[in-house]
Amino acid sequence: MTTFLAQITDMHIREPGQLAYGRLDTAPYLRAAVQALAALRQRPHALVLTGDLVDKGSAAEYAHLADLLAPVQALSVPVYLMPGNHDDRDQLRRSFPEHRYLGAGEFLQYVVEIGANAENGGGLCLVALDTVQQGDSAGHLCAKRLQWLRSTLAGLRDRAVVLAMHHPPFETLIGHMDEIGLVEGAGELAEILAAHRNVERVICGHLHRSIFAAFGGTVACTAPSPAHQVCLDLAPDAAQAWTLEPPGFHVHAWSGPGCLVTHEAAIGSFDGPHAFTG
Ligand SMILES: [Fe+2]
Repeated sequence: MTTFLAQITDMHIREPGQLAYGRLDTAPYLRAAVQALAALRQRPHALVLTGDLVDKGSAAEYAHLADLLAPVQALSVPVYLMPGNHDDRDQLRRSFPEHRYLGAGEFLQYVVEIGANAENGGGLCLVALDTVQQGDSAGHLCAKRLQWLRSTLAGLRDRAVVLAMHHPPFETLIGHMDEIGLVEGAGELAEILAAHRNVERVICGHLHRSIFAAFGGTVACTAPSPAHQVCLDLAPDAAQAWTLEPPGFHVHAWSGPGCLVTHEAAIGSFDGPHAFTG
């Protein structure tokens, strides 16, 4: 049986009525993403949200996020939250006390099983790794977090793992985003992953685009935002700008060891489907 893990990232939810960047109401975009997720022909076994859940980290923003995610809970799809550089770990935990996997440690990282059943050997293991350094837009993997990952992966050698982190570990060539990329620990992370071939994918956010790269002997990718995308400008001096290109999210489908395929799902209303015949 195939395990389906949906990934929505970088929603940047504000308080009701407030605009991100003074211009963008992000809430309707998440509402549309949730509708698209609910309309998938294969119901995801879980949804992971890979950071920048809200824009400023306030209690009011997280309350708004909870309202917007309620339809996902109604589908009985488990939701897993991760922090991005726009989030506040402590407020996130306070606002979602029922999400016990968030724990109470210095970092917000955890392991959960996705889609486990009697046929698939336990399904996927989602390992959420915290790259946030409060007060810095860039990502960090300090020695403590790298050690946590080493010991966590050591206990999962016979399992298929998806590693989720907000900041991607690879350079994207979009200059202003690479400046706030994973500035600490990427080399060590690549070494760790190279020693664990059971990590099927590294899934990230932060870039507001769909991007794929080889990393540490596996494939790493970033997902688009359900709202605004970072402009496609692969220059070191690319202007810091966003655009309302068509939004999307990712569906990671795992059907056995070495068999994970990532699809981008479009959000919106489109003509079709039409039969190829006639
Ligand atoms: Fe973001």
